[in-house]
Formats: sequence, C-alpha cells, structure tokens
Amino acid sequence: MSETSVVVRPDLPIGTISPRLYGQFAEHLGRCCYDGLWVGTNNSSIAHSHGWRTDVLQALKAMPIPLLRWPGGCYADHYHWRDGIGSKRPVRLGMSCGLTVEDDNSLGTHEFLDYCVEIGAEPYLAGNMGSGSPQELCDWVEYCNVSLNTALANERKTNGRPQPWNVKLWGVGNENWGCGGNYTAEQYAQEYRRYSTMLRHVDESAELVICGLTDDWNRVIMDALKDHLSLVDHVSVHRYWAAGPAVDFSEDEYYKMIATSQETEPFLQSTAQIIEAVTKGRKKIGIALDEWGVWAPEAKPEVNYEQVSPLRDAIAAAITFEIFHRQCHVLTLANLAQVANVLHAPVQTKGTDFWCTPTYHAFRLYSGHIGATALTTTVDSTTFALPDGTAGISATASAGGDGSYTVSLINRHLDQAAQVAVRGVSGAKAKAQLLTADTPKAANSALAPNAVAPVELEVSGSSEAGWRCTLPPHSIATVTLAH
Ligand code: AHR
Repeated sequence: MSETSVVVRPDLPIGTISPRLYGQFAEHLGRCCYDGLWVGTNNSSIAHSHGWRTDVLQALKAMPIPLLRWPGGCYADHYHWRDGIGSKRPVRLGMSCGLTVEDDNSLGTHEFLDYCVEIGAEPYLAGNMGSGSPQELCDWVEYCNVSLNTALANERKTNGRPQPWNVKLWGVGNENWGCGGNYTAEQYAQEYRRYSTMLRHVDESAELVICGLTDDWNRVIMDALKDHLSLVDHVSVHRYWAAGPAVDFSEDEYYKMIATSQETEPFLQSTAQIIEAVTKGRKKIGIALDEWGVWAPEAKPEVNYEQVSPLRDAIAAAITFEIFHRQCHVLTLANLAQVANVLHAPVQTKGTDFWCTPTYHAFRLYSGHIGATALTTTVDSTTFALPDGTAGISATASAGGDGSYTVSLINRHLDQAAQVAVRGVSGAKAKAQLLTADTPKAANSALAPNAVAPVELEVSGSSEAGWRCTLPPHSIATVTLAH
C-alpha cells in the first residue's frame, strides 16, 4: 500500500474556525421542530424536558451546536412572531416548501430562545419579509433585545423573561428570489435597504443577513448596497447537493457526491470576491452558508422531506468542514439543513425511537476544531487518486490554544484503503477516532442505531518521523495530538 503524506503548516495559519461554522438549522417543516425537537408539554408519551424531547436534547448538547437558525427557511416569510408568545396561541396555517399544516404555535420565541440557552447555541432568527412588514420585524427585535421600559419589553417580562436575550443574528427574509416573495435582485435590494435601515434604529449592534443567491444576483444586491455597507453584515447563500438515490446510489453517483460537495468551495470563493469588489476593505461582510447539505431525491413533501442519511452523506459533510476551515477568513457562519428528521439530519426520531446518523458522528469527530486556528495543510495527491484523478486523501488541521493539534483526514476512495503519514505537528501522545462501515450506503436506524459509529484508530509514529495510520475506504478520522 503506498503512503500519502499530509503536511501541516503551523507557520501558515488561515484564521480562527468560528463556532458559528458548526451551526444547525431548525425549521417548522415536516417533523423537524414539532416531533423532532419539540413534543410539547401536554401529555406527550415521549420523555421531555419542558416540552423538548430529552433524547434529542442530550444528543444535541453533546454534539455540540454552537449556532441554531430558526424558524425557517421558507416558513420564516409566513411567520408572525406574535402568534408564538403569551398564553393564547392561535392555530395558524403553517407553510413551507409546499406543506400546509395546522400549526399550534406552541413552540414560539420564548421556547426557542430558552432552548438555545439550554443547549449552548447562539440563536439566529430569520425574519419575515415576504408577508410581514418592517415594523413587525422591528418589533420582534425590540421584544427580544431591548431592556428599556417599553411596552414590548414589558410584555416580554410579563411572559417570563425579564432580561433581554440580545439576539445578534437576524435574517432579513429567506430565499426572497423564490419562496420569500419572488423578488428580482433589484427589488429585493431596495426592500432590504428599507428593512435594514429600520432594524438598525432599533438595535445598532444586530448583525443583519442579506439574502444572496448566484454570482449574478449577489453582484446586483451588493452593488445596490455599496453606499450603505453598514446595513449588511453577512450574505446568505444556500447549497444543496444530490447525486442519485439516498442509499441505492451507484459508484459513479458516490463519486459525483464527492465532487458536488467539493464545488461548494469555488462558489464561496467567487461570492467572497464579489463582496470584496464592492466593500474594497471598507467593511467586513461575511458569507452565511445558512442552509447546506445533501437533499436526496426521495425527500419530497409526501414524506415530510425525510431521507435516509448514510455514511456517504457524512463524508460529504466532512468535505464541507475542510472547505469551511480553508475559507474561515470569509465564511462567517453555516447551518446544516436540518437539525432533526428533515433532509441531511444529524438526529432522527420515530415515535419514542431516536438515533444519530453518521453525519452526527462526523460533527462530533470535527468538534475539536471549533474555535481553533485553521492551519494550511497540503496533501501529496500523486500517490493515491480517485478515478477522476483528484486526491483520494484530503485533510484539515487546526491548532488549539493549549498547544494541541487536531488533524482530520478523509479517505474518499470507494474501495481502496490508504496509509497516511501526518507530518509537521508535534505531540507527546496521539489518539484517533475513525468513522467507517463496510459500505458508504450504511446508515443507522431505529432498529440499528449504532450500525455506523466511531471506533478507535491506531496511530503510530512520533513528531519527528510523522504520525501513521491506515484509513479504510470511504472513511473519516480525527487524530488529536496533545502535549
Ligand atoms: O430546508 C428546506 C428549504 O430549502 C427551506 O425552507 C428553504 O429555505 C430552502 O429552499
């Protein structure tokens, strides 16, 4: 077996890996929020803590989840926040992505923001531009963030929350080029200027997220805001990938998923260039990849947008983490879609059953990078290649503040193992964890919740000679070097 050399360069730091890059997205869609996270306080047979399912709560705390976006998605542009506060909650038509349901609004602002406190997540609220008004969104910001003696702040206190939550991140609409109003880029930019101007008056320190799309759309909105850069903090873009069925994919489709997830990187780079061309260093505006993940063709409205999420999807997620680390100087936040049951979910539930998908374990394997400094990492791509000639092994590394290093590796090859030597990082002891299975089609389920789970991986070597391990085909590993 040939050896692939991975060289980590502590002398070439890229930037800090913000905890916001490991965010999740909870939309009122299908069984994500209702049933997946929230079972309510009224006689649920499922164990819960103040309405939140206990099994999911514990798993999300352990993940961890540093950032959580809510309540949509497309749902956000129909959502009227006042329906979700106080003791009398109306049942409304819940609408997103072609699903219309009775929505009892039992999960509202207080419940969500208190949940964020409980799981240690920063909240990111998506505001309603599609069917709302600037005043309605200003009122939500005031309700959440103002400590003065105003009617809205007092209403919050009466509803049980004396101190403000100080929510920093506010999306001004969602996918307003489509479900959020079918605006043209010019129309949306004009509306955005109005909304964001009003929002700034309420809370100067709020971080406002403008809705982006393609390079063409992003150029237009950025150009329209060029004289008002103080109104924009992040540009939202979404990336969903599909490559054949969720599980029954072919070899070609396996590799297509690898290539498709990798294409996220040039897209982020071109978005960053468009932002830079307008800001010219005058204002730091980041990219918010606030929806990303695998969207299998099976995940349709008829099945509440649910899909089996096998090991292949965890490998796609790991590829994305590598991209996040390399682009951490321009990418300011990211949210996997969605946190429970819907699409590329890390946790899934069925009645009282609950299990973590391989993607959950991928998040856990990469959690050591959160808050660390991303380091330039080079891989010798000549020794071990995929059928299309790209490198079979890829890697990302980071330095913790305590002198430790975390190196994560992917063997992207479908059916060949690889020997890897990691050089350039020192440590007194190395330990490693591996996520793999007999096939990338392997998934967890209610009946086999631990079919795909991390195991220990043997690492040999030394700081001088390099650290060696063998990566099975279609696998992910994280090596931790501690002093
Ligand atoms: O995540 C599902 C949907 O995908 C969201 O509601 C929308 O923003 C996107 O089109």
